[in-house]
Amino acid sequence: MSDALMIATDSSPQPQAVAESPGVAAYFIVLNIAPGAQAEEAVRSFFGNAAGLRRSVGQRLLGRELSLVVGIGSDAWDRLFGAPRPAALHPFKELNGEKHRAPSTPGDLLLHIRARTEDMCFELATQIMLALGNSVEPVDEVHGFRYFDARSMVGFVDGTENPEGAEAIDATVIGNEDPGFEGGSYVIVQKYLHDMQAWNKLSTEEQERVIGRSKHDDIEMADDVKPANSHIALNVVEDEDGNELAILRSNMPFASPSRGEFGTYFIAYASDPGVTELMLTNMFIGRPPGNYDRLLDFSSAVTGTLFFVPSQALLEELAAGNPFQTGDTETASSAVDASALASASASAPASAKSSGTLSIGSLKGQPQLDSLLTPSRNT
Ligand code: HEM
Repeated sequence: MSDALMIATDSSPQPQAVAESPGVAAYFIVLNIAPGAQAEEAVRSFFGNAAGLRRSVGQRLLGRELSLVVGIGSDAWDRLFGAPRPAALHPFKELNGEKHRAPSTPGDLLLHIRARTEDMCFELATQIMLALGNSVEPVDEVHGFRYFDARSMVGFVDGTENPEGAEAIDATVIGNEDPGFEGGSYVIVQKYLHDMQAWNKLSTEEQERVIGRSKHDDIEMADDVKPANSHIALNVVEDEDGNELAILRSNMPFASPSRGEFGTYFIAYASDPGVTELMLTNMFIGRPPGNYDRLLDFSSAVTGTLFFVPSQALLEELAAGNPFQTGDTETASSAVDASALASASASAPASAKSSGTLSIGSLKGQPQLDSLLTPSRNT
């Protein structure tokens, strides 16, 4: 049995730094893996080295809270590791609403670097790129900054209703519903560009009705006042028992004022990407369909990519290839020692997470997700 699986059965493996605070500075880097077996080998070996690189840079200036999360895209997982694969890993599903579109864009690797100062992000990104060399090609790179009291680019405080502490872990970390991948997470990223001229033409009261909270004090509107197409109204989703479902957002504004570019880098971790996808469906298609998120009239999604975030232990193990592979790479089920997984599930403590991945169709008052999602061009 692999080390990662043993850790998973005995105690929960340590997640990567998914639940860190957004930081004051953040780098969001999306990369593709270059063609060829040599590039694949270099990327695998970086997985074994990533935590060490973070320690090397972080140790130079203590207290700067440097953190790193490495995500792996669906196509990249297949190429680097084959079966078995994380149960909910798939390419980002493009959404086409009546008026607004969420595109699916390529990405093999995500680097999410956060710190109290940008020099730390810069240094770690530089060291990582030196390690990866020409095994990767850049797809997108965004440098986010904390804007006064954690305001988004549109001037409202962002992140208020994020889960905290144990709730944040519960919302983001895979439990025993996916044996072998415990301690992992999923992350969806989208780069949004805002039409700030149009946005700034709205009065503060109109902007507040778009978001569903007050601008200055960040207080949520009462339910009977909050418009049904406000951002907040459409992003509160529940399971069939009426329990609110959470994701953990670590959004950051970014801008290039001389080019007139103003944006929000949306990034959300979840133990089940179906929760984030449901929110996106509400925003782009609408709940009910047609009642889309008014914030999208001022914000265009220009990227959209989904990644799996292995636990810290699994990331390191992946340096040597897929630890669950038995030589038969054809089917995921045959590649995992079935008896080991059965005993892992049986011995793991019962928790809310053991109920399995979200059954989207069973959600109260929600559109049927699968009928609304357009398969991505990658699928
Ligand atoms: C244009 C990009 C976006 C901007 C500027 C933005 C901004 C905001 C702001 C200002 C809030 C209120 C404060 C808070 O609770 O954080 C908020 C809440 C929230 N947003 Fe967004 N957001 C964006 C995109 C998204 C997307 C794409 C999703 C989901 C897929 C999302 C999910 C949420 C959730 C779940 C909440 C909290 C709802 C609640 O429980 O009250 N946001 N967002």
